Amino acid sequence: MSDLGSFVAGLPKAELHLHIEGSLEPEMMVALARRNRVAIPFASVEEVRAAYRFTDLQSFLDIYYAGADVLRTAEDFHDLAAAYFDRAAADGVTHAEIFFDPQTHTHRGIAFATVMDGLLAAVDGARAKHGMSVYLIMSYLRHLDEEDAFATLAMAEPWLDRLVGVGLDSSEVGNPPAKFARVFAASRERGLKLCCHAGEEGPPAYVHEALDLLHVDRIDHGNRSMEDAGLVARLARSAMTLTVCPLSNVALRNVDRLEDHPIDRMLAAGLRATIHSDDPAYFGGYIAENFRAVAEARGLGREQLVTLARNSFLGSFLPDDQVAAQLTRLDAYAERT
Ligand code: ADE
Ligand code: ZN
Repeated sequence: MSDLGSFVAGLPKAELHLHIEGSLEPEMMVALARRNRVAIPFASVEEVRAAYRFTDLQSFLDIYYAGADVLRTAEDFHDLAAAYFDRAAADGVTHAEIFFDPQTHTHRGIAFATVMDGLLAAVDGARAKHGMSVYLIMSYLRHLDEEDAFATLAMAEPWLDRLVGVGLDSSEVGNPPAKFARVFAASRERGLKLCCHAGEEGPPAYVHEALDLLHVDRIDHGNRSMEDAGLVARLARSAMTLTVCPLSNVALRNVDRLEDHPIDRMLAAGLRATIHSDDPAYFGGYIAENFRAVAEARGLGREQLVTLARNSFLGSFLPDDQVAAQLTRLDAYAERT
């Protein structure tokens, strides 16, 4: 491994933007299709991989939702998440806050309990095996209506103590944050933290809406905030965390080339930007590869990489004492490496 590669892999970091369904590797997709006798429109792992050429967010989502159809049992959700936690641990992740999309499964007749049972078994396993803390964030699908999100919140009621927050994902343009203002308020009333994908494909106005109408704790992506100087100043002033996903941005054509990625301009503008993996099985790399690739493409130095890792803990939903402990470990690594 290169110097940069090994520095990044050992750098303690938090994963804050990972869709567990987006960690479904083609090998597991094919294996689960066989195990569950589900027909998929691909004859081999190579054919699955060859389908991963995206022109925009929607072209990806169509394949991502189709792929999720192989997930049927609690064991499937366990195996998916356990494989992800093994990869994350190898990438230096010491704490993870992962998204799952309940409606992608409940709409196919899979019980909310099936999803939770499988994921929670893997979460408990990650702590035992890797000493990794894991929080779950259930994400509402924004192409569906708010009533459906309310029904999902009702289903989650028995598991509220195992969920740290809610998110909002899926097709952004045409589905602004305002559409979900009431269900976000209801989620907050139940003690849940609030995240929202905004400014990935959608305009800066959607980021303003996520702040003004949803009162979010975190913005996922947020890249297009850079088009609005007033918004950048506002995000910087409030130390709002932006969970940026460089390989996703290139795969979904939000950025032409990694060499053009705005991550260092975001840091220079005072934004609390962090680096994450989004849907790594589809976009060509997990969190360490996102760090490494964008560092190489943009010439980021160690100080910037440590800042990005620091921001991941500062932006996490860990209690203050655990954030402090994570930062102590990070500083020790930065000093001795
Ligand atoms: N669901 C999974 N990945 C997503 C992304 N990058 N944007 C919006 N919704 C998603
Ligand atoms: Zn995402």
